[in-house]
Amino acid sequence: MNVHESEKLYAAFAREGVTAADGMENADIIVFNTCCVREGAETRVLGNLGPVKRLKAERPDIIVAVCGCMTQQADIADKLHKRCPFINIITGTYSLGALPQMVKAVEAGEKFILDLAVDESVPGGVDEAAPSVGVNRFVNIMYGCNNFCTYCIVPYVKGRERSRRAEDIRRETEMLVRGGAKEITLLGQNVNSYRDESGRDFYALLSMLAEIDGKFWIKFMTSHPKDLSENVIRLIGREDKLANYIHLPVQSGSDTILKKMNRGYDSASYLKKIDAVREHIPGAGITSDIIVGFPTETEEDFRATLALVEKVRYNNLFMFIYSKRAGTPAAAMDEQIPEDVKKARIAELIGVQAKIANELAEEHIGLTCEALCDGRGRRATAKTSDDRVIVFDDEGRDLYNEFVTLEITAAENSKLYGRLRK
Ligand code: 5AD
Ligand code: SF4
Repeated sequence: MNVHESEKLYAAFAREGVTAADGMENADIIVFNTCCVREGAETRVLGNLGPVKRLKAERPDIIVAVCGCMTQQADIADKLHKRCPFINIITGTYSLGALPQMVKAVEAGEKFILDLAVDESVPGGVDEAAPSVGVNRFVNIMYGCNNFCTYCIVPYVKGRERSRRAEDIRRETEMLVRGGAKEITLLGQNVNSYRDESGRDFYALLSMLAEIDGKFWIKFMTSHPKDLSENVIRLIGREDKLANYIHLPVQSGSDTILKKMNRGYDSASYLKKIDAVREHIPGAGITSDIIVGFPTETEEDFRATLALVEKVRYNNLFMFIYSKRAGTPAAAMDEQIPEDVKKARIAELIGVQAKIANELAEEHIGLTCEALCDGRGRRATAKTSDDRVIVFDDEGRDLYNEFVTLEITAAENSKLYGRLRK
């Protein structure tokens, strides 16, 4: 989400004739697009502002802006302004598109701009093609979140759920595919609760997009286990354009913790969804997010998480230490877990997952699969429909953004290596 917002920000600046500098030292405008999901991201921004302060002392004309989720929080914006008075612009998540105009206002003499206005309207129309980091192109389908998981700050900084019109999303996807895009990732905090003003739901949206002409894959994130319907799972199984991949964050394997997290499902119903995915999408790649050390998490709760991970055997797992976010219910819970316990638990989980990922990779040796090339050279890379990365030698041919057929020849530390078949 953050990467795509930065892409859009870049596009907004490009429209005003601003081009990318080859490093902070040579930049006239420096923008930090922040994230506040975990404390680590916030700490990193503060660490990176040190060198900016020195640059600004040497070249006072540089314009410095900090925007995004972190600064959507009024108290943090205020603290940041006091601590770093050299910052010219502080905005939240709603006014990113107006940043180039704010920069102009600073150039015209304004000293400091603070804009934390909340605007939950959904702009109609199609986003212009933003530059992308790789072959994948992101398309926002909805904004905000209504779920209020007790650990999560997103609903407070991104507002309530609202969906873009399906017709706009179709036109934008068509435009990207016509421009050569072969992988589209639909973005939303909870894509399964997509519903536009004409009542089109996620199933209807995916069906519409799968009808677009051309050879390309559609991926999406993030699915919420409580809202992922069997209809959607079956549709993915049926439609070639819908990639055989699903990111289905479980967060914990303990029913007690899931309840305290306000996730709206228990481990048994989660596992049922996984069974449905495996039944209707043969060879599906499944990934997940897990938080360890949620307040009150006992050793037994943590063992339940390990057991679930062993049972599902995820392709890939994003593992996080619980991070206290001010203003969320979990931050106020008694029995916060000590840092050393959290660290020991995540280390154990990482070990269990590494073993599983290795075993799964070994099982893939000998298979031939289609993949989208997203790197060049003797160690080129390509991504499969089930979201695995394969390293291969492109034999000097430029295959970037092309579908290739690869035979998987080796696996090492969960990484797959392959050979070109055509
Ligand atoms: N602490 C740790 N991890 C968190 N996530 C969200 N909030 C927190 C938090 N307070 C994780 C969840 C989510 C992912 C994007 O970030 O696992 O799925
Ligand atoms: Fe946060 Fe839960 Fe919403 Fe995801 S579904 S953004 S974890 S509140």
